[in-house]
Amino acid sequence: MRVIETVAGVREAVGKERGEGKRVGLVPTMGALHVGHEALIARSVAECDVTVVSIFVNPIQFNQREDFERYPRELGQDVATCNRVGAAIVFAPAHEEMYPRPLDTYVEPGKVAEHLCGPFRPGHFRGVATVVCKLFHAVEADRAYFGEKDAQQLAVIQRMVSDLNMAVEIVPVATVREHDGLAMSSRNARLGEAERRAAPALYAGLREALERLKSGEREAGRVKEAALAVIGREALARVEYLDVVDAASMQPVDQVAGPVRVAVAAWLGGVRLIDNVGFSECPSNISG
Ligand code: PAJ
Repeated sequence: MRVIETVAGVREAVGKERGEGKRVGLVPTMGALHVGHEALIARSVAECDVTVVSIFVNPIQFNQREDFERYPRELGQDVATCNRVGAAIVFAPAHEEMYPRPLDTYVEPGKVAEHLCGPFRPGHFRGVATVVCKLFHAVEADRAYFGEKDAQQLAVIQRMVSDLNMAVEIVPVATVREHDGLAMSSRNARLGEAERRAAPALYAGLREALERLKSGEREAGRVKEAALAVIGREALARVEYLDVVDAASMQPVDQVAGPVRVAVAAWLGGVRLIDNVGFSECPSNISG
């Protein structure tokens, strides 16, 4: 496995592989890799000849400088993980390599970024779309893998690829969870003991929503109420939003007619967690 730090270097290495007819998979990450990330890498390794994992903590998607500075950086460990799971290349650019000067050009997502996390994290999805666009140009992959854990991010990227004719296939990967249902996240390590015990309430609420949908409830308001009642039993969880949205456009729905996601963001102490589940009458349309 190779660790490459420059855009020119990774472009050349990937270009060579593709020239030999190899299928290239890209897994964009910010490092501090856990089992959730590993699932994306393993999926790419299974489906592609060459897997590139990018590791870059992207400053322009953070709302608070402090959050960016505190973000865990464990490159040595991450490189070992990528190697173990079967990646061929780790692309780990320094800040100056990705942003040699302040950007003057951005990718601005539209309505898909307006709800859920959008209002609470101004500029976040613009930062994500822009860096992913840059990564797609540095690493010209056939496929790129994104977790359903970050469902709105996935929808933003899918819409960007479609709107801007990007020649990469986006592959969604189901959320990997702890045994008690908590979605894996690098932020979980920051939870205090009591908060960690309370955190599975989010998924319990989402499962309740899913049960209601499966038993025929189509009124989004009632689905939300049921989920909030379950989460509300856990006094430590402060819900920021809980909504039922169209799975592709991320627009809130009143009546469930097509594939939807029930998405939640909540604060446990000083840690903000997000999670979601998908529902479709035709189960093969959606998972997670
Ligand atoms: P990061 O938070 O490191 O996540 C990298 C990828 O791993 C994302 O596609 C995310 O959805 C996926 N992921 C995280 N936890 C997961 C879990 N429990 N199960 C399945 N997949 C999971 O998301 C980002 O980085 C950044 O915004 C990025 C796309 C790299 C742009 O900077």
